[in-house]
Amino acid sequence: MMLTMIPNGIVSVKVASRMVSKPLLTSKWTSSLRRIGLKPQTRTLHQWKSQQPVNTVNNNNSLRRFNWNPTLTRPLMTATNHSCAKCNRDPEKLKAIMSREILPRNVTPLHYDLQVEPNFETFKFDGVNTIELKVNDESIDDISVNSIDIDFHSASLGGVDATSIKTDKESQVTVLSFPKGTVKNQLKENESVKVTVKFTGILNDTMAGFYRAKYQDKATGKTKYMATTQMEPTDARRAFPCFDEPNLKATFTITLVSTPELTHLSNMDVNKEIVRGGKKFTTFNPTPKMSTYLVAFIVADLKYVENKDFRIPVRVYATPGEEHLGQYAADLTAKTLAFFEKSFGIKYPLPKMDNVAIHEFSAGAMENWGLVTYRVVDLLLDKENSTLDRVQRVAEVVQHELAHQWFGNLVTMDWWEGLWLNEGFATWMSWYSCNEFEPEWKVWEQYVTDTLQSALSLDALRSSHPIEVPVKRADEINQIFDAISYSKGASLLRMISVWLGEDVFIKGVSQYLQKFKYGNAKTEDLWDALAAASGKDVTGVMNIWTKKVGFPVISVKENGNEITFTQNRYFSTGDVKPEEDQTLYPVFLALKSKEGVNTSLELKDRSMTVKLDDADFFKVNGEQAGIYITSYSDERWKKLSQQAELLSVEDRTGLVADVKALSTSGYTSTTNFLELVSNWRGEKSFVVWEQILNSISSMKTTWIFEPKPVTDALNAFARDLVSKKSNELGWDFTKDDDFATQRLKVTLFGAACAAREPHVEKAAIEMFEKYSAGDKNAIPALIKPIVFNAIARVGGKDNYEKIFSMYKNPVSTDEKLSALRTLGRFKELELLERTLSYLFDGTVLNQDIYIPMQGMRAHKEGVQALWNWVQKNWDELAKRLPAGLSMLGSVVVIATSGFTSLDAKKQIKQFFDTKSTKGFDQSLAQSLDTITSKAQWVNKDRDVVISYLREHGYYKDQVII
Ligand code: BES
Ligand code: ZN
Repeated sequence: MMLTMIPNGIVSVKVASRMVSKPLLTSKWTSSLRRIGLKPQTRTLHQWKSQQPVNTVNNNNSLRRFNWNPTLTRPLMTATNHSCAKCNRDPEKLKAIMSREILPRNVTPLHYDLQVEPNFETFKFDGVNTIELKVNDESIDDISVNSIDIDFHSASLGGVDATSIKTDKESQVTVLSFPKGTVKNQLKENESVKVTVKFTGILNDTMAGFYRAKYQDKATGKTKYMATTQMEPTDARRAFPCFDEPNLKATFTITLVSTPELTHLSNMDVNKEIVRGGKKFTTFNPTPKMSTYLVAFIVADLKYVENKDFRIPVRVYATPGEEHLGQYAADLTAKTLAFFEKSFGIKYPLPKMDNVAIHEFSAGAMENWGLVTYRVVDLLLDKENSTLDRVQRVAEVVQHELAHQWFGNLVTMDWWEGLWLNEGFATWMSWYSCNEFEPEWKVWEQYVTDTLQSALSLDALRSSHPIEVPVKRADEINQIFDAISYSKGASLLRMISVWLGEDVFIKGVSQYLQKFKYGNAKTEDLWDALAAASGKDVTGVMNIWTKKVGFPVISVKENGNEITFTQNRYFSTGDVKPEEDQTLYPVFLALKSKEGVNTSLELKDRSMTVKLDDADFFKVNGEQAGIYITSYSDERWKKLSQQAELLSVEDRTGLVADVKALSTSGYTSTTNFLELVSNWRGEKSFVVWEQILNSISSMKTTWIFEPKPVTDALNAFARDLVSKKSNELGWDFTKDDDFATQRLKVTLFGAACAAREPHVEKAAIEMFEKYSAGDKNAIPALIKPIVFNAIARVGGKDNYEKIFSMYKNPVSTDEKLSALRTLGRFKELELLERTLSYLFDGTVLNQDIYIPMQGMRAHKEGVQALWNWVQKNWDELAKRLPAGLSMLGSVVVIATSGFTSLDAKKQIKQFFDTKSTKGFDQSLAQSLDTITSKAQWVNKDRDVVISYLREHGYYKDQVII
């Protein structure tokens, strides 16, 4: 899955094997809002921050309605002339639209003719860009385009040179001014005008725009570079001056220039290739109408593998020596394109599909139309040497990016606040196709433990934000690539698809694609299409879910056979205030009883009572398709814990997740959680086990700073839970095991190791010893990361050296990543410091910096060492991970959210009070909320938990001599 929980309930986008990229969100900040006359409902992303203004240094900037730069002739960006009927009826929406920082609409782009030539010595590139423009206001003499770090040499319009070219760095806009009347004169002879700019840009090393990705050549070991692009969301303007907004679609003809031996790739197929003066010029065919954030081009030494099963060529490119690892993805690409074409009834419109493995990459993958780019580990697969998670991750990433070819590329969100239409759909669709190809993976069951929990844990924070949140500027846009857009978005689609039925849902969705292809759409357009296909009031039900933040907890009160359901906003901190509890969500109760599931019950008001014929067994949120948590009485929890056989995998998974969440927030006692999972130790489904073990692991990391007898007792509890089953299942992996058995074995082996179950730990250590003595088959690939972890728990310099040498000379990229993460798991301070020193000395690539950090977050010594290091090295970190990239936000979350006390929270706040938090203020607010939630959980149930552990014989009272 894309979003994964870092233990403790922090959600973050999983990049690579990873949980990186963009943790998330927001704070509330009502007083500033009132100052500018906005009501809280119209909060922009920045204003959706947590209660505490984390840092007010740049918050003031974020409230500016538009940038006014006195050196330029007009306000750079403001949403002028917006007059659609829908928005005129909704003044809040109109206000949000008017505050967007966008280019003036006096011209609109029709076509770009772009030539780019990278220079691998100077790390710059030269460009010539001719943009054909439709003129909407003939009287203009200035043309505004987006650009950053671009050095303009000239600009001309129909042969007339610009009189001035001025760039405003803050707003990333360049104004090209022409002699009075130039535009008007041009229009006398032509329907459109053409502006040509010549420029030089920087082939940067920050993984944004047109950048250089460093790698070691397999054959010679020499350092080499690929020149490649990453434009989303707003970095096309680093590669070429453009109208960098998703609804300013145009066509593109791209020409690449380099020495002849390098491969040239772009969105389209080659139109012509010539070699002149020792240089190769490749011109690609014009693209269909598309947004700038989807433009891609690559100049590099590449080889490929191919699959010919689909209508058009499907290839996977990699640097020489690695291309054979692309076959799995090539085969999957061909199958997936065919499947989506058939499902939507719309052909993939481009003449080819290339996937490329990029050596340095900030996200996991990027859906550029016809030229999808990936982190190496998310595309190239050595199946025999990989974990199941890795195989599933590659499959998911490939299918996700291919789903975008329709959702995002063909039909694009009108503006970034509709990002969920891209990411929520791509996430849901990747499961839909995966379910078709790999039914054994039970992806819809895994959805409950994975995507749904990611969505709920972020949305349970005060600092969450609605799915559709107004965003204005680049640094805000980056921060909404989060669990709300991806996981809550996908969960909403799951809810709708169950409500309407999958067939009706897909029918509505394909009508929506058909209607808006090559254009842009808004959330309302999707609801209209689904309403038309189903005849149901989709808009009425769904608007609340996209426009309002949060989700409810449904409290169930029983009076004999009469059951009363009451909804309230849910916070994991358990401290919702009446003014935060105003939204009434439309909730499908999906009440499961012995007679089946009653799908007609909808809770629209605060409360509702129903009468059951037989209340011996019932469960709310049947199959766990709704976005909410259900709270039962202690007696009902007991009863449900004995009725496992009446519940589906999704139900059991949901109950475990719910009771754990309710324990955190104080709706129920943690003993109900401990009892339930204790009763389910005979569970057969790997999905339910994963939820049980994730929940326990989250509890352990919340209790991480508690005294040793308590943490030992929790470990003893976990050990007792998994010991029998893990020893029974064993750790031999034969080809005869089906997927579910393999998963279960891996999960239990990992949990038993984490709980230091002696047999299992011994087995892990023996495997490692044989492996490092040269027996390359000693550790089954599926459990290698677990074995490495076990070794870090044992600790010691010798073991560290062995893991380090595996990082330097791995048998697979999967091993490399596991080793790197393990380097953070050692607890000895000296070793932790050594790991930290590798983050800056070139041993660890910037793209991977969070991986050893994640290892550190798993133990208290690491949590403290990492935070000390981050404070000491803050300036350098901020320099290496520019705020715009959003990786800094991930680092901040990983480095701070491991703490569990209000005191630590205060210190973290103090540290950031003096820093600019631009680009990661949401992540920080989220992290602080998470600490609050953990602190409250431990404070509330510290004694209850000790009593439970003591009563059940897990807590050994210390003997005082
Ligand atoms: N469109 C995103 C890539 C992206 C993310 C660009 C953030 C700019 C900022 C892409 O489709 C994506 O979502 N990639 C995921 C993988 C996927 C399986 C969820 C990623 O990068 O992890
Ligand atoms: Zn995506």
